[in-house]
Amino acid sequence: MEKFALEMKGITKEFPGVKALDQVTFSVKKGEIHALCGENGAGKSTLMKVLSGVYPEGTYTGKIFIDNKEVHFRNIKESQDAGIAIIYQELALISELSIAENLFLGHDLMRQKVINWNEIYRQALIALKKVGLEVDPQLPVKHLTVGKQQLVEIAKALMKKTDILILDEPTAALTESDVAILVKLLNELREEGVSCVYISHKLGEVMELADSVTILRDGKTICTDPIAELNEEKIITKMVGRELTELFPYEKRSIGNEEVLRVENYTAYDKAGKVVSSNINFNLKKGEILGISGLMGAGRSELFISLFGGLPGKKEGTVIIDGKKATIKTPAQAINEGLAYVSEDRKRYGLVLGMNITQNTTLIALNKVMKLKMINKAIEIKSAQEITDRMKLKAPNLDVAVGKLSGGNQQKVVLSKWIMNNPKLLILDEPTRGIDVGAKYEIYKIMNELVAQGVGIVLISSELPEVLGMSDRILVMSEGQITGEFSREEATQEKIMVCATGGEKIG
Ligand SMILES: Nc1ncnc2c1ncn2[C@@H]1O[C@H](COP(=O)(O)OP(=O)(O)OP(=O)(O)O)[C@@H](O)[C@H]1O
Ligand SMILES: [Mg+2]
Repeated sequence: MEKFALEMKGITKEFPGVKALDQVTFSVKKGEIHALCGENGAGKSTLMKVLSGVYPEGTYTGKIFIDNKEVHFRNIKESQDAGIAIIYQELALISELSIAENLFLGHDLMRQKVINWNEIYRQALIALKKVGLEVDPQLPVKHLTVGKQQLVEIAKALMKKTDILILDEPTAALTESDVAILVKLLNELREEGVSCVYISHKLGEVMELADSVTILRDGKTICTDPIAELNEEKIITKMVGRELTELFPYEKRSIGNEEVLRVENYTAYDKAGKVVSSNINFNLKKGEILGISGLMGAGRSELFISLFGGLPGKKEGTVIIDGKKATIKTPAQAINEGLAYVSEDRKRYGLVLGMNITQNTTLIALNKVMKLKMINKAIEIKSAQEITDRMKLKAPNLDVAVGKLSGGNQQKVVLSKWIMNNPKLLILDEPTRGIDVGAKYEIYKIMNELVAQGVGIVLISSELPEVLGMSDRILVMSEGQITGEFSREEATQEKIMVCATGGEKIG
């Protein structure tokens, strides 16, 4: 008999208006990395929340077995005691607290009358070392990159005895080097016999890491296969339920000379007076997709947030929008000038999680739905319905709070919101992060439609295939400067990487 560390049988979980899980079966062997794949809203996160006691017994039907023994979790604590650790899709650390405080939150050592900080720091260092992090545990978490925060969460999980580690899209926002640390760590854990459930939309990673793959579609288990029997195309076909022959629906187009944006000798400083973008020169034509490539931390987001009026510090140089000189000091002015910025950090800048879908999508385009100074409900709902239909948003209706949507569907709401505003210049910052392959394709098609209408699009992306697949022209940035420019025809991964790493030295 196969030795399963975990078996979930006949799991069904309903939310008002949605059957998130429908008789799901899911089994994980001891010491394997088991990828859980599926489109946005397929039920991956929900299944893992059932497993980890976030949704307690009684709120779903079906059975869970750990090491062949049936378990009944009434809360997260009970699943933790059974050796289950979960790292959520959205980070759960408290950013104002130090790394050590986050690690030991709720720990016995923190409950003493006199807290022994030396002991806490000592143990924190050991925990951090385990995940390959060499940082001062007294540092507030907010000073860490998202990737490092992710590793702190894993360190925290591993402080307890862990037999099953669940990672819900751990690498969506990681730099390449942080991904490498994580991959190494997971391989070590596998050696130690820890089982890992790995949720990711990055199928390349899945192929590289996983021993087996389970695919969910619309809340149902489609299959579980050993990795040897799969490849990326097979996974996609099973996820989407149809073959997806082309990933990037680029359409050859003729682009005129009219510019929607021209930036000359532009230098931006942060509040402390440090240069964030240095002597930037580029233009963007109407109807053009301009890809912006570079490593994480290259200053791509900073440059465009700054142009969007979102950075406080001083700015020098000239910005011309639609042929007219513009001074944009605030995002409100940028929006007035016809700019839109889809942020990479949807939770912080993109959405009001407690508000419903309609309210979120019409947040910016309010003037379009305003009538007699009041929001015309009917127009509001119709506009929101149109755009979210196009995006194939998966939600029971538009009155649900966006906080209740799956991660990828939240991102679709962010995109809808900005596109509804009919911008002439649309800045997309990692627009497809956490989005499944099928929905990515839809987003690319919407980009095509927008440029066909004359919108200029800036596509900032860390996914090289995406930049290469969708852009008409590509700029590469490194350390706050533009270090390369390629036409669609000239661009290759190698050429871009050379510029992204800052020079001709490599190769
Ligand atoms: N708290 C909730 N209340 C209502 N509906 C919910 C809630 N959580 C999830 N859902 C719904 O259950 C379905 C499954 O969502 P889930 O978050 O499990 O998807 P997912 O596979 O993790 O997707 P993604 O790849 O986008 O993260 C979706 O239709 C979602 O809207
Ligand atoms: Mg999810």
